[in-house]
Amino acid sequence: MSTDPRCRRCRLCEGRTQVVNPQGDQSSPLLLIGEGPGEKEDQSGRPFVGRAGKWLDKCLEQADLRRDSVLITNTVRCRPPQNRRPEPDEISACRPYLMEELPGRRLVVPLGATATENLLGRPVRMGEEANRVREVVLDGIVITVMPTYHPSACIYNKVARVKLVEGLAIAKELSGLA
Ligand code: URA
Repeated sequence: MSTDPRCRRCRLCEGRTQVVNPQGDQSSPLLLIGEGPGEKEDQSGRPFVGRAGKWLDKCLEQADLRRDSVLITNTVRCRPPQNRRPEPDEISACRPYLMEELPGRRLVVPLGATATENLLGRPVRMGEEANRVREVVLDGIVITVMPTYHPSACIYNKVARVKLVEGLAIAKELSGLA
């Protein structure tokens, strides 16, 4: 679902060029959630089109998963200044938009610690959480969640690259996209 392009629920509206809405198949059984838009995403209005997006595309291809068969969104929909991590109050302000995307998905895959912590409600270490499936109750709805590594971790971490491809392949099976 699209966010009001004039949304002013948090301070991120002040520096953004535009809101970055979810992209892909709106009715996909599989939802991927990143952290927040970077510069290229802010300019284009589409998630994961910059450097991290290139890694995501590469890993999706290796997992034999078509980008247009999944829905891709972010924990916050406006670019944080200097690409810093979003603050807790910004994440809370954007949470109703994220919640709208969850019902009906077979699997929700948070990419990296920010998205994972938002869904699990506690601090995480990705090495302990990646590619483990669990059920989570969020605002009264039960969702199946499998965190995995953020594509930007692939830039410097070979283990992350291998685990992200493996996680996306598992996600393909579990969501019925195989
Ligand atoms: N990183 C993210 O988490 N999301 C994007 O859309 C781009 C980079």
